Amino acid sequence: MKNILVTGGAGFIGSNFARYLLNKYDSCRIVVLDKLTYAGNLDNLKDLAGNARFAFVQGDICDAAAVDGAMREHAIDAIVNFAAETHVDRSLIEPGAFITTDVFGTYVLLEAAKRFGVERYLQVSTDEVYGEVAEGSSTEGDHIMPRSPYAASKAGGDLMVRAYFVSFGLPVTITRGSNNYGPFQYPEKFIPLFITNAIDDLPLPVYGDGKQVRDWIYVLDHCEGIDTVLRRGEVGEVYNVGGGNERYNIDVAGKILAYLGKPSSLLQHVTDRPGHDRRYSLNCDKLKGLGWEPRHDFDSAMEETISWYQHNEWWWRKIKSGEFMDYYRRNYAHRSVLSSDA
Ligand code: NAD
Ligand code: TYD
Repeated sequence: MKNILVTGGAGFIGSNFARYLLNKYDSCRIVVLDKLTYAGNLDNLKDLAGNARFAFVQGDICDAAAVDGAMREHAIDAIVNFAAETHVDRSLIEPGAFITTDVFGTYVLLEAAKRFGVERYLQVSTDEVYGEVAEGSSTEGDHIMPRSPYAASKAGGDLMVRAYFVSFGLPVTITRGSNNYGPFQYPEKFIPLFITNAIDDLPLPVYGDGKQVRDWIYVLDHCEGIDTVLRRGEVGEVYNVGGGNERYNIDVAGKILAYLGKPSSLLQHVTDRPGHDRRYSLNCDKLKGLGWEPRHDFDSAMEETISWYQHNEWWWRKIKSGEFMDYYRRNYAHRSVLSSDA
């Protein structure tokens, strides 16, 4: 695989993945196709701008002509699809955009993959398609039981990918990652929101009791898992990619405050997210069977991540204005404050 199309590569994980592949392999060329929605940001790719093995194309994965143009011009051998609407809270406010990009956009990419006869199509999916898991851990053969419009849209994409494998023999694989953290994550998501709010002494809005559990994976461990599946995964198969770090949200928030030396009075319990999944948990034995395992220890990678946001205010301060503030009001203004942990 020489020429790899990374759709959604101006976002958080896609930009880390583009950089990861360029650093790891001398031979590959990376073409990022991205619509540059509110979450897409060329600053995430700034350091790759002069790299002869990197190209950026602005375009929508729902636009077949734009996708075909990039495929043809760059002689693409493989597609890794990160492009998606990704935030659960926004999916509760405006689900239509999720169905359009995460389902229809996936179909457009699959059609292009089929027409151009790519070596591999990898769909980047999420543990959220399994729904909440009260006990035990999700394995790849479990039923998918999505519960938010985001998760349902991602599940729709996964099923379409599977259909193109079964119906047309397209060489697909699907990865289902757990919650990521690391540099360049749009600061509406839990960890960067809480870090940047804490830096500014603003309240940290904890949904409900904060006892929801997420399995956190450092973004580069996720990138390595995706690359492993791209190169060694069996076509038609799904692979879970989890960090093995299940934590209560409230404990992660406490860690951020402690590292930054900020008071716990910044914690503000607010009205919960409707349908909030209590826990996700992944069994990753299948991917470990391909030789992958997460390398980053949660505590030290979290400290590095907090420090990255401390030292890169140039990156997030300009985001936390304009559209961000409009969204912030829409998502948080109606929530009641349940208590403060002061
Ligand atoms: P992100 O929101 O940071 O980035 C998404 C990117 O996709 C942005 O650059 C955006 O401009 C682009 N995009 C959106 N709609 C597009 C369209 N129609 N055409 C082209 N580009 C479009 O998301 P992320 O956190 O980097 O997630 C990337 C992928 O990984 C998503 O598919 C997501 O479902 C999946 N995933 C994310 C996590 C996580 O914790 N963030 C965990 C598991 C899986
Ligand atoms: P998020 O980053 O939105 O990821 P996801 O919902 O896709 O797992 O949220 C992670 C967890 O943090 C989730 O349980 C919701 C919670 N959360 C809060 O408590 N407050 C917030 O302001 C946000 C954005 C999330």
